[in-house]
Amino acid sequence: MTYLPAETRYDNMQYRRTGRSGLKLPPVSLGLWYNFGGVDVFENGRAILHRAFDLGITHFDLANNYGPPYGSAEENFGRIFAKDFKPYRDQLIISSKAGYDMWPGPYGEWGSRKYLVASCDQSLKRMGLDYVDIFYHHRPDPDTPLEETMGALDFIVRSGRALYVGISTYSPEQTRQAAQILRQLGTPCLIHQPRYNMFDRWIEDGLLDVLTEEGIGCIGFSPLAQGILTNKYLQDVPDDSRAARYENQLHWGDKVTQDRLAKVRRLNELAQARGQTMAQFAIAWTLRLPAMTSSLIGASKIRHVEEAVAALDNLAFSDEETAVIEGILAE
Ligand SMILES: NC(=O)c1ccc[n+]([C@@H]2O[C@H](COP(=O)([O-])OP(=O)(O)OC[C@H]3O[C@@H](n4cnc5c(N)ncnc54)[C@H](OP(=O)(O)O)[C@@H]3O)[C@@H](O)[C@H]2O)c1
Repeated sequence: MTYLPAETRYDNMQYRRTGRSGLKLPPVSLGLWYNFGGVDVFENGRAILHRAFDLGITHFDLANNYGPPYGSAEENFGRIFAKDFKPYRDQLIISSKAGYDMWPGPYGEWGSRKYLVASCDQSLKRMGLDYVDIFYHHRPDPDTPLEETMGALDFIVRSGRALYVGISTYSPEQTRQAAQILRQLGTPCLIHQPRYNMFDRWIEDGLLDVLTEEGIGCIGFSPLAQGILTNKYLQDVPDDSRAARYENQLHWGDKVTQDRLAKVRRLNELAQARGQTMAQFAIAWTLRLPAMTSSLIGASKIRHVEEAVAALDNLAFSDEETAVIEGILAE
């Protein structure tokens, strides 16, 4: 099968500028954390990526350890890239990251230059790419000097392995320091990737101000709290859901609980009144912030991507809606 992208793919997507950089990203980007690994159905992931690109999603987000097993999402992406996306390389923004445990021993995680450069090389090899568009430090390292980690990111750009660099889950203060070091090195920090959804709003407490002041973009991950902020769990826990597959042991403390579902039911009524599904409502809500460049979703089905892109038809929230949402979330 030869994949030919839809000619209409750029007709409806309104791309957003990433901070004060020259790079634009789609307001919805697709991450390959789950559903694209060695344990997943290859053709399903491939079909999701095709549909995403056909709808104008130009940004795919990966990391060294996405799978499971570690590395397998990049390997699968590499196969799909070689089959389908190679002619469109210049129309794609592909990112990877290093920071979490990837291989055994003292050089396989955190933030040393040794780890970051080796991991970037491994990611490029797995994906069959000459360079990634964005390379991230995945999490702050309490022990490695920030100068070393940022120096490694600068080197990764200067050596042609990446075009831009970003940081993920850094605190406001760490972000300010990282941005300053990177600016001095001549490789400005393009983007920050924090977690952001209705149940996790930490970035509103200082980080967004730093990003705006520093001209850094923001791509918020898990806008659906891994599926909890959808109508998926309102009746029961479907067998093919992430919560069922991973026995409700989700990362980041996400859990399907009655307390959360009670809130989602009420939020879902608001969504319906806006003519949106709960997922669309949750995605649109993350994009109401001017500092938000992109909402970074995951998808196990083609229709998840379609639903997310259709969320972009209604991004405005009235003061009344905002007040009701705040009331529900504060309870
Ligand atoms: N920087 C970091 O530290 C970090 C950490 C985590 C994630 N990320 C990035 O963020 C990306 C997204 O994370 P995420 O997967 O947690 O995002 P998410 O959008 O919050 O959750 C995605 C999951 O929600 C469910 N879903 C999506 N659309 C749906 C719909 N319309 N109706 C019902 N269910 C729907 C699916 O779950 P089912 O599988 O149950 O169908 C899907 O796999 C990752 O792939 C990764 O690139 C980064």
